[in-house]
Amino acid sequence: MPKQSLKHSNLRVFDHPVIQDKLTRIRNKETNPATFRRLLNEIAGLMFFQMSRGYQAVDIPVETPVEQSTGKQLAHPITLVPILRAGVGMTDGVMGMVPEARVGHIGLYRDEETKKPVPYYCKLPKDIAEGHVLLIDPMLATGGSASYAANMLCEEHGCSNIQMMCLVASPEGVTKMNQDHPSVVIYTASLDRCLNENGYILPGLGDAGDRIFGTV
Ligand code: PRP
Ligand code: URA
Repeated sequence: MPKQSLKHSNLRVFDHPVIQDKLTRIRNKETNPATFRRLLNEIAGLMFFQMSRGYQAVDIPVETPVEQSTGKQLAHPITLVPILRAGVGMTDGVMGMVPEARVGHIGLYRDEETKKPVPYYCKLPKDIAEGHVLLIDPMLATGGSASYAANMLCEEHGCSNIQMMCLVASPEGVTKMNQDHPSVVIYTASLDRCLNENGYILPGLGDAGDRIFGTV
């Protein structure tokens, strides 16, 4: 199970050794995009398995080859919302666990000068507010992109049941999310040290989108 952060009430950290082993290989600057993507998706699947622990399941009848019985079915739809581009790099790993999940997309890029998010795309299921929403982005740096996306989900689409999955979080980003969206619990493989002068996470892993898609 992820550990509740003692410093941040909205943060849970996966200190599982298998996740930490994969994260370290992802951080390594020598790791190529194919391996980076595979490891990222593997971590996403492992994280989702625990993040969904509290999802409600209801009884349904099931006829096995030998008798009538009662089984379980997830009670609410799941919508994955990767923030483009880098969020796409974790989505397949979650889809491997719940192929029936819907996928909405929010397109944001961070302006290099201001570090503020610039929106360019949004496509979400109409009834997204009725189920679980999983906001996905490997990097939570200043928190500007995650907060902007959460605003869109809450204010424009009425979502109230949002979890966030990221690979690496900075203290600054977690604090911003706690101020702007205290009900969104953030799950991460690491709470890193800080941001550098360019808004990159330290020690971090560099530019996640570029490393996923080989656009370095
Ligand atoms: C990266 C990352 C986050 C954002 C985090 O995306 O994937 O979306 O930066 O930074 P923030 O917390 O300071 O907002 P980027 O803007 O580089 O776009 P990309 O995914 O298309 O590469
Ligand atoms: N975006 C990234 O891809 N990496 C960082 O360290 C910060 C923002």
